[in-house]
Amino acid sequence: MVEQKDLVRQLEEVSIFESLNEKELSDIISRSQVVSYKKDDVIIFESEEGNSVYIILEGMVKISRQNEEYKEVILAILGEKEFFGEMSVLDGALRSADVAALSRVHLLKIDGKVFLEFLEKQPKLSIALLKEFVSRLRKTDHQIKSISLEDAVGKVASVVIRLANDVGRLKRGRVEIENFASQQEIANYAATSRETISRVLTMFEREGLIERDMNKIIINNFEVFKQKFGSS
Ligand code: CMP
Repeated sequence: MVEQKDLVRQLEEVSIFESLNEKELSDIISRSQVVSYKKDDVIIFESEEGNSVYIILEGMVKISRQNEEYKEVILAILGEKEFFGEMSVLDGALRSADVAALSRVHLLKIDGKVFLEFLEKQPKLSIALLKEFVSRLRKTDHQIKSISLEDAVGKVASVVIRLANDVGRLKRGRVEIENFASQQEIANYAATSRETISRVLTMFEREGLIERDMNKIIINNFEVFKQKFGSS
């Protein structure tokens, strides 16, 4: 059981809730549920009706859709303190994508009506939400560019940078990306093949740009890596 005050501490670190005080956060928590899923469980199915918003308390999820050939296309990977499920709650349309657990996850499931009630009362919450939408749009624009313009090396470099930004841990210039996704999933995120991912990662490793420990990827110098591949 997660204690109420621990939950308040966790929600305080969620960027969209920055403007809410302890009482308001406690109010949200008392009207929500903590739910858990194991790796590979599907939390949201594309095209279902949706009336909950989820905050990630622990773990990681992937947001994906299937293309016409039933191949998975990963749109985003989200980690702790991020949220999903807001799109259907805001516009009342069906869920826009599948959301599945990439590890064991604990989530706070907030009823859509409670979420909307807080949005109406709290302009700062709406602004924080808009900022997050802008950031997601920027990432998506970047992803479209990398899919359509870059060669294999550029695509793989771009997905490594995206993973580092999404879920990497930065320590003294190095970024560690935990072992959470299969090479096939990384390929689905980069819109390339598993063989290409494997070949280019091996090349990066030989050049000393990255190290691999089991499936963990370590970027030795993130700034140098970003400069080399012209991405921010
Ligand atoms: P919803 O459509 O309700 O359910 C699927 C969720 O996936 C969606 O809300 C968003 O929270 C999330 N999602 C969809 N597309 C993206 C994206 N490009 N980047 C990050 N999250 C997304």
